[in-house]
Amino acid sequence: MESEMIRKAREVAGHSHAPYSGFPVGCAIADQDGKIYTGCNVENASFGLSVCAERNAIFHAVSVMDKKLQIRTVIIYTPTPSPTPPCGACRQVISEFAENPVIISVCDGRDIITGSLNDMFTHPFNLKP
Ligand code: THU
Repeated sequence: MESEMIRKAREVAGHSHAPYSGFPVGCAIADQDGKIYTGCNVENASFGLSVCAERNAIFHAVSVMDKKLQIRTVIIYTPTPSPTPPCGACRQVISEFAENPVIISVCDGRDIITGSLNDMFTHPFNLKP
């Protein structure tokens, strides 16, 4: 499962639109049924409109699922010598659709970052009316 997700994250990084940063990112997430969804980062000339790979993978999953997404695993791939953990904004978005998923960052080097969302993101924002 994880090796298939890594392969898909690497493949989707090839679709990245990152002409401004030159930093392609691919992401694969697995849902509660083991189904895999992917996304890449998509940048814009108006830089603030750029969207990360993780959020694109999640929004893609939400758009096609007929039940609420529960993320079990997140794989992030960058074609870099060291792995890239998810940014804070993506950690918040992951927290909306998961209890405590495993997050694994892989790259072209040997290092891997593995952790749970709770390790990486201790106090998510929640609306408490
Ligand atoms: N990026 C991601 O896709 N995911 C992250 O978690 C961090 C950053 C993208 C955004 C931008 O297109 C490029 O990497 C450089 O910041």
